[in-house]
Amino acid sequence: MIKVLFVCLGNICRSPLAQGVFEDLVKKKGLQDHFYADSAGVSGWHRGEPPHELSCRIAEKYSIDITKQRSRPVTTGDKFEFDYFIAMDQSNRSSLIKEFGVDPEKLYCLREFDKTAGDMDVPDPYGSNLASFDDVYKIISRSVEQFLNHLLKKIKL
Ligand code: 4NP
Repeated sequence: MIKVLFVCLGNICRSPLAQGVFEDLVKKKGLQDHFYADSAGVSGWHRGEPPHELSCRIAEKYSIDITKQRSRPVTTGDKFEFDYFIAMDQSNRSSLIKEFGVDPEKLYCLREFDKTAGDMDVPDPYGSNLASFDDVYKIISRSVEQFLNHLLKKIKL
């Protein structure tokens, strides 16, 4: 079982979408026995909250239900639990190394898997409108798909 933790700042906008897209793809491919995903924030600002209303609405537009997720901060124990840490931006990536002791070898920025990316960061849509959340969804969706393909090649499934 490969365990993946998707990480952003608040764990209410971007990483819940990444978790939702990943779980949806894994389910559609019938690979639930091979992959486990969770998401967390480098801050605990929104601990216990459901994902942002606009993230929920955009996920629903693409037939993915993320409403049951709840925000949680990254813990120092996560580095022992997870095989991959997928940061939404370079700031999250550096927090994971400096504050949570995550091994850089297990750590990627999600857009490293986005072939069209000129920028390594998934933009933070917090405070913006539904169209921005839709743009963010599209970035996350194509990147997560490439990330899963990368994993499938590695484990030769
Ligand atoms: P996220 O977005 O990191 O994608 O969940 C944010 C959520 C909340 C805040 C910032 C970004 N905030 O400042 O509370």
